[in-house]
Amino acid sequence: MGGLAKDITVAVIGAGTMGAGIAQVAAAAGHPVLLLDAQKGAAGKGRAGIENALARLVEKGRMEAHERDDLIGRISIADDLKDLSRAGLVIEAIVEDLEIKRKVFAELEAILANDAIIASNTSSISITALAAGMEHPGRLVGMHFFNPPPLMALVEVVTGLATDTMVAKTVFDTAESWGKAPVYAKSTPGFIVNRIARSFSGEALRLLQEGAADPATLDAIMRDCGGFRMGPFELMDLIGLDVNLSVTKSIWNLYYNDPRYLPNVLQEEMVAAGRLGRKSRQGWYDYAEGAEKPKPKSEPTRPEPGEVRLIGDLGPAAPLIPLIEKSGLEFETRDDEESENLGGIYVGNGEGGGVIKFTDGTSATERAAVEEEDNLIHLDLCLDFAASPRVVLAPGDRTEPQAMAVAVGLFQKLGKEVTVIADVPGMVLMRTLAMIANEAAEAAYHGVATPKGIDTAMLKGVNYPKGPLAWADEISLPWILMVLEGLAGQYGEDRYRASALLRRKVFGGAHFHETT
Ligand code: NAI
Repeated sequence: MGGLAKDITVAVIGAGTMGAGIAQVAAAAGHPVLLLDAQKGAAGKGRAGIENALARLVEKGRMEAHERDDLIGRISIADDLKDLSRAGLVIEAIVEDLEIKRKVFAELEAILANDAIIASNTSSISITALAAGMEHPGRLVGMHFFNPPPLMALVEVVTGLATDTMVAKTVFDTAESWGKAPVYAKSTPGFIVNRIARSFSGEALRLLQEGAADPATLDAIMRDCGGFRMGPFELMDLIGLDVNLSVTKSIWNLYYNDPRYLPNVLQEEMVAAGRLGRKSRQGWYDYAEGAEKPKPKSEPTRPEPGEVRLIGDLGPAAPLIPLIEKSGLEFETRDDEESENLGGIYVGNGEGGGVIKFTDGTSATERAAVEEEDNLIHLDLCLDFAASPRVVLAPGDRTEPQAMAVAVGLFQKLGKEVTVIADVPGMVLMRTLAMIANEAAEAAYHGVATPKGIDTAMLKGVNYPKGPLAWADEISLPWILMVLEGLAGQYGEDRYRASALLRRKVFGGAHFHETT
């Protein structure tokens, strides 16, 4: 494996949340590390924090005491920028301010060897802008770690217009030799993860605004059906609503107010009220002593359907077929060559029935009218229908309650909790994933990163259950496009416009990852 030799000194400037963690990672890899902070005592505090973290690892038996001593022994505190002159790589993790960072880089250039690399951990400032005015702008590269650096594998290796290819490669190889998962990214607003992840909270806020469901229910859908570790509202509470809002606003501004990144007034109101999440003990949830977390909405028990017919192509809901087969329910399967409409699951009993169809990005009400289908019920996506403990349904405005009851009964018979949401276009997981995948496609189209790099970034930087492009391939790209077109038809072209690359893949009969 390439990268910097282990005897090369790595300097870390800024010993806060990120800098201390980065110093730990570099020292764990065997480098002598110099840690510097402008604030008196901060670097010592940073190192003490690392010692505490390592002490816990030793206690748990995950690290030997001598390894800890060696690691800590490799981290020295620097008192002055001039002390960093022997470093071969300097990683800057100071305050997120263009002018302050530029000033530090100018001072560094005056003391470092000509071939020393300067890397910035910035999460939102252009690497091109940071390098402008440097004597050797080719030596500046983004090395964007994720919080906490010792635990999160992703490192976005961000290249600006002037970044030397060999400099980026050295940093990439070095990150890899440190056990990280580096991914190249072109310097663009939000790089990969912070840009693509906007849709995760962005759609959630719109769904809340549209009355789809309450935050606890929306979160449960994203966890149970989507396989995400946290729901969007829980995540906003953890990150801080103010931080999330300011990242969203920054990316929205940097993309010239592109409606894809539009901030949401609901969040603005929460921030105005000081409801910032866990840190203020009140956000989307209440964190006061003894406060109980609200439960997601689930339907009461309904009788199982007497009649089940699987008609035509169920699309992304096809994995339900083996579950219905195993359930012991009597059912029929029929092709439906005469109809132009997509297929569905017809359910009924003595009192009535309806048809369950996988969401196409419109509302169930509109689709029922267009397809001349009484009692149409929309079904949301599941990452894995067999493993998901929950399924989500939405009735059209004219769907009768009896039809809804039998549809609920079907999924309860399959052992699922059933959540019924309001009739919002594209539903919850399908709509959010379509937006995330579309954003990933657009980033690939613009050469920000490769499809493989994008999927790795979302898996390793924010723990997505699947890379969004691989997930889109699996669902079927024509279906993703149909959902986006359905959404665009409901809300206007701007926000939900499909990426030209996605369209090309669909019309070329291709995938983002050709092996899938
Ligand atoms: P922080 O506020 O925890 O730490 C920054 C440290 O830099 C402070 O200890 C401060 O005293 C020191 N500092 C400020 N100006 C300095 C200077 N001129 N010279 C030396 N030290 C200086 O900030 P945090 O969260 O660690 O962020 C640092 C950088 O990492 C920022 O660019 C941020 O955008 C980026 N980042 C932050 C992430 C996070 O989750 N907090 C994630 C990824 C990147």
